[in-house]
Amino acid sequence: MKKICVVGSLNMDLVVTVDRFPEPGETITGREFATYPGGKGGNQAVALGRLGADVLMIGKLGNDLFGEQYLNNLKENGVILDGVKVEEGVSSGIAVIEVDSTGENHIVIVPGANGKVDRAFIEENWHLMEERDIFLFQLEIPIDTVLYAVKKLKKAGKIIILDPAPARILPDDIFLNIDYITPNETEIETLTGIRIKDVDDLKEAGHWLVKKGVKNVIAKAGKKGAYLATSDDFVHVPGFTVEAVDTTAAGDSFNAGFAFALAQGKGIIESIQFANAVGAISTTAKGAQSAMPFLRQVETFIGQRMR
Ligand code: RIB
Ligand code: NA
Repeated sequence: MKKICVVGSLNMDLVVTVDRFPEPGETITGREFATYPGGKGGNQAVALGRLGADVLMIGKLGNDLFGEQYLNNLKENGVILDGVKVEEGVSSGIAVIEVDSTGENHIVIVPGANGKVDRAFIEENWHLMEERDIFLFQLEIPIDTVLYAVKKLKKAGKIIILDPAPARILPDDIFLNIDYITPNETEIETLTGIRIKDVDDLKEAGHWLVKKGVKNVIAKAGKKGAYLATSDDFVHVPGFTVEAVDTTAAGDSFNAGFAFALAQGKGIIESIQFANAVGAISTTAKGAQSAMPFLRQVETFIGQRMR
């Protein structure tokens, strides 16, 4: 099995459940409050750990209670911690999340220690990274670091998966280094400037990114599954319908599932199917990392749904 490395953010999620989101200037009463380990990078790493992957995390936490709890959680889920540093004088990253009765969310993040994941930190951990095969990135650490790391890793012949979340415009020179990009609808609109009204728009946007140099564009489409765009193809890989209670981190789970299947030597379509399953299951429980499925659950789920 190929070795995986996640480079990215570690956040403690402060989650409030509400019947509906408040309007600007309005105060409403929430139902429940809970904290869950989250952050797009950590979510991918924990999902991978639960699936049984060999996964190294590169990231930073603050020297506070959240950081301590977070480290324990990574450890319990089998993530290799040699690349996780506790940074002095800064808080751990946090996310304030509201989840409504349909499972939709609104998220505000404060980067804290994630903002200190810089080029020097990549250099410090290069000896660990060099030994890995597949790399996952998201956009909750400084973009300069992501660019620097993907270029260096691509030169070293590594496989790069980029989840361009949260949505932002990216510099053109990143795309040539990306083997797989996994935007959702908002993110692909932001990246390409193409409004997505239907599948044809998605195809156009997918091929726009391929022309920029991305090898495989995997557009996540929630319940509908995902669409794969390559230089000579555009394919729909249908998703799974489930009762969603909290969609937080569904995208992170998708990326983890995809990387895990690739690491096992599965083909791209089969890997997307597996990713769809991991993403779907993660929406059926509350929280980010707490909702990530173990391998057995995914296999049972796929077995039932594919009959
Ligand atoms: O993708 C979900 C994650 O986004 C949450 O866990 C939160 O921390 C934000 O970073
Ligand atoms: Na969830």
